[in-house]
Order: sequence, then C-alpha cells, then structure tokens
Amino acid sequence: MIHIKTNAEVELIRESSLLVSATLSEVAAFLRPGITTLDIDRMVETYIRDHGAIPSFKNYRGYPFATCISVNDAVVHGFPNQHELRDGDVISVDVGVFKNGFHGDSAYTFALGTVTPEIASLMTVTRESLFRGIEKAVTGNRVGDIANAIQEYTEKKHKYGVVRELVGHGLGRHLHEDPQVPNFGKKGTGAKLKENMVIAIEPMVNLGVKEVFYDADGWTVRTKDGKVACHYEHTICIRRHKADILSSFEPIIKQEKSNAALFSDY
Ligand code: MF3
Ligand code: CO
Repeated sequence: MIHIKTNAEVELIRESSLLVSATLSEVAAFLRPGITTLDIDRMVETYIRDHGAIPSFKNYRGYPFATCISVNDAVVHGFPNQHELRDGDVISVDVGVFKNGFHGDSAYTFALGTVTPEIASLMTVTRESLFRGIEKAVTGNRVGDIANAIQEYTEKKHKYGVVRELVGHGLGRHLHEDPQVPNFGKKGTGAKLKENMVIAIEPMVNLGVKEVFYDADGWTVRTKDGKVACHYEHTICIRRHKADILSSFEPIIKQEKSNAALFSDY
C-alpha cells in the first residue's frame, strides 16, 4: 500500500532529510586519508543523536551500524571497519535518520585525493542520473518512467552496470515503504505517481558489470568484477510539475569543495 503524506508530514520528512544532508556534510569535512570508516560511523552516530534523532539503519533488520559505508568495489550496505582510508578510495556514505516519527534517507559518494578520469566520470554520471530520475518524479508519471530515465542514461548511454538486486523505495513512518523504485525498467509501467508520495531514489552504478554478490558479513554488496561502484540517493516528494527534493547535496558540496583531501569535480 502506498501512503500519501499530508503537507505537514512532508515537512517532518524534510526536517529528517535535511539532518541527513547536514550529517553527510560533516562527513565531507571529516574525510581524510588515515581515518577509518568506523571513525566516520562513530562521528555520524554522535552527530545524529546530538541533534535529537536516531540513526534509522542501526538495528534495522539486524544491521549493526548507524551508516553504510561502501568503499571501492563495495556498492552498498558496507560495514564500517578498521581499515584506514587512503588516496584514491571511492567512499559511498549512506545515512538515514528518524526524528519526529519520520525517516529521511540520502547517500553520497566521495573520492579521496586523486581518482582516474574513468572513476570521476562514473561519479558524475551516476549523480546526474539521479537528477534525470527526479525530473520524471511528477504527478501522473509512473515508477517505470523514473527507472527508465536512470537506466537509459547510465547503461544505454554510458555503458555502466546498473545494479538490479537493490532498489529505491517509499519512506515516511517506515524506512522502507511501497513502492519499490528500481533503477531499470520500462517507461509507462509500475505504480502511478501521486502528489505527496515520498520516495527515495538511489541509483547504484558500477564501472564494470552490473552483477554483484554479498560478501561474508551477509550485508556488504560488492561488484562481481571488483571494479568501483557508486551510489547517490535523495528523498523526494512527488508534486505536480516538479519534484520537491527533501534532502540536499548543497551543504555536502560546499564542504567537499573546501576539504583539500577530497577530489571534487564541480
Ligand atoms: N539507503 C539504504 C536503503 O534504503 C540503506 C538501508 S541500510 C539498512 O535501503 F541497513 F538499513 F538496511
Ligand atoms: Co534508501
């Protein structure tokens, strides 16, 4: 069942989503070679709790951390660990918060130091594909219109691998609500988009093949060919002519630009 939110509920989801964005901007300021993804997870959990919220992912279906941090060939759901980050690492950070009874969910991929032009372009194209999906997230369209826009741009145009096993989702009082929002599919198919539906759109795109596997921890999703993957996610509200993006990359990009340890291609 798809829940349609009231405007007041949308504003609460915006508050949670903007807290996620602020958290990700803290990550952008914090990232440097030598720190571990567990350091990031601890910082994030403290920041979220200090802001009167709860990390949505912690204990969700047994997930043991506040963040998912997926480095290089890890696509999503990476476990924070004690491995030190270094120059050239591609780091996807996914954060959710629960505040005032509503979740917000967003993810961003960072690169430490220098990355190859191929990786820089994967990051740019994946981020752009998210916005191409968002352009289709308007009243009267269908979920398949969003999915198709993302797939056309990343897979057909740029020949990257689009992950099939994991998808975007509705959210609100629950982290995962209907409908599922895949990053591949046919125009004009799937659930009809209605005003005040709130969904998370989250393309997961691989430099190489689309196939992935779960590693031994039972959560971390990795590319089958070991090549780099990236992941961007926004929480958005369906509106009549233009989606309302409830999370924001602006604070993240601002920090990213001012952190000399980070690669930034803006
Ligand atoms: N953004 C991801 C999702 O919506 C994060 C969920 S991680 C989990 O599926 F640990 F909470 F499952
Ligand atoms: Co999500």
